[in-house]
Amino acid sequence: MEQDTIAMETDFNRLIKDLITSDSITAMENMFAAWQELMSRYRCAIMEVETKFKVLNDQFSLQHERNPIENIKTRIKSPDSIRRKMAKKGLTPMTLASVEENLNDVAGIRVICSFIDDIYMLADCLTSQDDITLIECKDYIKNPKENGYRSLHLIVEVPIFLQNEKRNMKVEVQLRTIAMEFWANLEHRLRYKKDLPESLQQATAGELLQCAELSAQLDQRMQQVRYTVEK
Ligand code: GTP
Ligand code: MG
Repeated sequence: MEQDTIAMETDFNRLIKDLITSDSITAMENMFAAWQELMSRYRCAIMEVETKFKVLNDQFSLQHERNPIENIKTRIKSPDSIRRKMAKKGLTPMTLASVEENLNDVAGIRVICSFIDDIYMLADCLTSQDDITLIECKDYIKNPKENGYRSLHLIVEVPIFLQNEKRNMKVEVQLRTIAMEFWANLEHRLRYKKDLPESLQQATAGELLQCAELSAQLDQRMQQVRYTVEK
């Protein structure tokens, strides 16, 4: 019995050694390095766009004595989410070139603004900069989603300057007010509570839609208050 186990382990070790040749280890190392390099380029693109927003915020606060930006959040999509989205789009087998070409939201930046008109002002300022190319704009503020979701989404391309080359990278920019962020965070959390019974899910969806409408009114009223104060 013990002899059999030892023999099996030896066979297994031999099999693993045959599979993991030095060529396949080198291939894996190269793939890992290329992946790290691509993610690093996305991180650089986020830094570029984040800096642009920080500059606009700073300049605006000097001129108008208030900050249009409350908060900036950034994220790189996780390898698992990238893999799942590529599979959902039928883009298999996944290659780095195809990720770069087909996914617009590997690099994401969310800008939380004080008022609705700050969102449009910042979006205009960003997209009119001569190194930014606007690829896509989805205005879920003027046309909210059926569930009540509101935000302004831009896909932009920004150049990053590396040691020996310039690369254009895509970044997803989401601009929203504090009220929109509050609603979206709660809705996102509830959406993943899949164990809710159907009737409760429907009631929750209806309640969330009403909350979205209330929060849209709140945004409008706060903006009116600001206009009155500024006048
Ligand atoms: P994705 O496959 O989700 O990226 O959709 P899409 O490519 O059609 O893009 P869209 O611009 O509609 O949405 C992109 C992102 O906006 C999502 O990844 C979320 O971060 C956010 N978003 C869109 N719709 C909703 C929503 O109904 N609720 C919440 N909480 N967030 C949303
Ligand atoms: Mg997305």
